[in-house]
Amino acid sequence: MTDRYAVIGNPISHSKSPLIHAQFARQTKQDLSYEAIPAPLDGFRDTVLVLRDEGCRGINVTVPFKFEAFQLATQLSVRAQAAQAVNTLKFDGTEIIGDNTDGAGLVADIEHNLGFILQGKRVLLMGAGGAAYGVALPLLNAGAIITVANRTEDKAYQLAALFSAHGAIHGSSYIALTGSQFDCVINATSSSLADSLPPLPRGESVSPFSSPGSSFSIEEHAKRGGVFAPDALAYDMMYGKETPFLIFAKEQGAARLADGLGMLVEQAAESFFLWRNIRPDTAPVIAKLRLI
Ligand code: ATR
Repeated sequence: MTDRYAVIGNPISHSKSPLIHAQFARQTKQDLSYEAIPAPLDGFRDTVLVLRDEGCRGINVTVPFKFEAFQLATQLSVRAQAAQAVNTLKFDGTEIIGDNTDGAGLVADIEHNLGFILQGKRVLLMGAGGAAYGVALPLLNAGAIITVANRTEDKAYQLAALFSAHGAIHGSSYIALTGSQFDCVINATSSSLADSLPPLPRGESVSPFSSPGSSFSIEEHAKRGGVFAPDALAYDMMYGKETPFLIFAKEQGAARLADGLGMLVEQAAESFFLWRNIRPDTAPVIAKLRLI
């Protein structure tokens, strides 16, 4: 019998998850279906319980229901507890197991797909909302040394305090970043949705005639004074367009730019593994989505 899975959100029609999981299922020869299901804003819990009673095996959860999913779960993984949010539910008898695969997806994309090892690297994590909470613990577990900056400064300090037992992390305002450089700058704010940019200190701009991604000497970087160290990776968790942050990062001399498409596929692969105990090959799926 075909096992049924779904993703629930509101809105949900734009979701690429059905496409991704259909490719994973084909690739691994798993007999499953995966559909996108909208839930009314006040009807997440009922939608989930109906699906479970109909025999659905697991559910991905997206905006705005990740906290409700966290509350609905009867068992939580360590990373879901840390994130205080759940993006993956697995039904096991009467138990509803809640996990959060977002951070693992980000780390897998950065390390495996982009070849950037996080151990000992200075990482600037921008934002202190749900997206930042979701990735902080896996980044720390990968050995990143994190500065978290947020427009509302206090939230950066709160996030850092919550995770400080797990590794090197401290909070900051954006202005206090002046003079600091980072090997990896991650945009976990929702600024890209509004086509805006977090208020990062601006270094001297690179000549518009220099080629994108060109590298600079350490002295040139220091002189220019931006937050991007030589060889820095700029990562925007949003995908689907060149965001103001990535345009800024290119202008400021970041050596490498990445959007969140790889993270999307990697977090899906991690959910698929939780449900099916088999790891799909993500590279062909990412490549295919880039063409759509
Ligand atoms: P999400 O679940 O996407 O993280 P959220 O919990 O609403 O959404 O958090 C949004 C985050 O993006 C917050 O950290 C917010 O900063 P504030 O706490 O100061 O509001 C950040 N954010 C949104 N727009 C921003 C912008 N233009 N510049 C900087 N930070 C921004």
